Amino acid sequence: MRLFSTNASVLIAAIVLPLASYASSGPPSHASRDFRQRCANLRRTFKPDRHTKVLVSEFIPQGTNWTNAPVTHPLCNAYYSSGAIFKVDACRLRVDISTSSTSNVIAEIILPITWKDTGKRVITVGNGGLNGCVAYSDLTYASALGFTAVGTNNGHDGETGKPFLNRPEVIKDFAYRSLIVGTEAGKKAANHLFGRSPGKIYYMGCSTGGRQGLKAAQDFPELFDGILAGAPANNFLNLVANGAQTYANIGNPAAASYISLEQWDVVHQLVLDQCDRIDGVSDGILEDPMKCRPRFEDLLCDQEAGQTWASHKCLTTAQIDGLNRVYGPLISVKGEILYPRLNPSAEVDLARAMALIGPTLSTDWFRYVVLNDSSWDFNTDWSLEAAELLRAQDPFGISTWNPDLSNLRRSKHKLIAYHGVQDGFISSENSYRYYNYVSRSMGLPARKLDEFYRFFPITGLKHCTGGDGAWYIGAAGQPGVAFPGGLPRTDDGGALMDLVRWVEKGIAPERIRGTSIGRQGQQVMRDHCRYPLKNTYVGRGDPNRPGSWKCA
Ligand SMILES: *[C@@H]1O[C@H](CO)[C@@H](O)[C@H](O)[C@H]1NC(C)=O
Ligand SMILES: *[C@@H]1O[C@H](CO)[C@@H](O)[C@H](O)[C@H]1NC(C)=O
Repeated sequence: MRLFSTNASVLIAAIVLPLASYASSGPPSHASRDFRQRCANLRRTFKPDRHTKVLVSEFIPQGTNWTNAPVTHPLCNAYYSSGAIFKVDACRLRVDISTSSTSNVIAEIILPITWKDTGKRVITVGNGGLNGCVAYSDLTYASALGFTAVGTNNGHDGETGKPFLNRPEVIKDFAYRSLIVGTEAGKKAANHLFGRSPGKIYYMGCSTGGRQGLKAAQDFPELFDGILAGAPANNFLNLVANGAQTYANIGNPAAASYISLEQWDVVHQLVLDQCDRIDGVSDGILEDPMKCRPRFEDLLCDQEAGQTWASHKCLTTAQIDGLNRVYGPLISVKGEILYPRLNPSAEVDLARAMALIGPTLSTDWFRYVVLNDSSWDFNTDWSLEAAELLRAQDPFGISTWNPDLSNLRRSKHKLIAYHGVQDGFISSENSYRYYNYVSRSMGLPARKLDEFYRFFPITGLKHCTGGDGAWYIGAAGQPGVAFPGGLPRTDDGGALMDLVRWVEKGIAPERIRGTSIGRQGQQVMRDHCRYPLKNTYVGRGDPNRPGSWKCA
């Protein structure tokens, strides 16, 4: 959902949050009047350096609802402001930061009135896909928890790669620089408005936002005391190649191997039939997808007997070949593994990815970054040879695949990575693979790595948000999705506050609690274990309750 923007209004339609809990109460207090005044003055008084210009400074009262508000850039999907509701009075600052003579970053900074009494924390939130769009719902989520929250347009507006064309400085902002300048601006703004130095500095993001978090962990470990990186789009160049090849394998309606949405449902059922019981519970959720090796030939039509999809809901040889390619790693023309297979059970999310975005991300990357040629066409120009061209350029280290986290370790800063095991946009196997790659490269067994880098597979979570299991963990891209009766587990801040407890109290998270509302309207809850431990059913009890599972 975040890597490739989608029309998420489908997801949130018709679900209304309870209004009462957000209503402001009574006339503004003296403190509040003073805060309003100082906020309004920022426009004149906040001049951190000659690169930074304040565009807007305004007081935002508690209860303000930014869903579909004009703050969202017209080139950005309304998804990024869905559910953006201010739970406390706050000051909004919008600044323009020049990063070179040909580039600039727009940052939105939300400073909640409660900041001084809630730990004086600052957080930067990330972006998605190739955008260009401020994650407003993540900003309001973090500001409700007391953080001064910063989000940027990542150096360009909108959701496409067009602004990259012949503008390397804009690519540099996208690869890492906006993260740095946005965070600096947020720290200075908090210091200026509240007259206190910030305490700990955090980051959270998912998809491209997850890649941005890993970029900071790899190359700028001083920037953040704690990083929460979800569904990271790292190994970025190979991810782009994999997206293109996956589309060629099963996503292109013109190809004989194309799998339709309806057919994906049958493929998903086959995966569940063969693999759901591996973890001991038949609940539609795979706890250990690595053990799942589906045999798609079970779906093959009896071609001699003239069976077809229409007559027997079976698939052709070409389609089975396509599936076997997608559930195997992407291999380069030179025989190297570029990208891991799709994790089984993510097929429904993959079907959505293919239908929604097709090969647009790879097309934009070829057109506006690799070749500077807007006429590049997926249908005629994509091949595994073309992938070599793409891989030969790693502008500003965007691949984000450095396994050496020794500077992060030295800084004593903390990294939590997580990945939805039903993610069809970015295979979660890439995150298992990165964790193991770091482990081998640094020569650190999990026990030692876990002192500063923990990885949590979140079973039943699709790409960043949504899913069939206990997917809601209170992380980036999730606060915009409403549940009937309100968001679960926002009281203690979910995975973000798990990170805070690790950084500030030294209490390292053993599990991340996920919640959701099940298909029958029941509360679903599961404590997701840190890799390489796995959620393991104890053999009895309601699988929707955390007590029925252990980490083993
Ligand atoms: C916020 O605004 C959206 C769109 O106008 C609306 O659907 C939603 O119910 C509002 N939420 C609250 C809590 O007011
Ligand atoms: C594309 O443009 C950039 C910036 O102008 C340049 O650095 C790069 O070499 C160009 N690539 C090609 C293949 O022409």
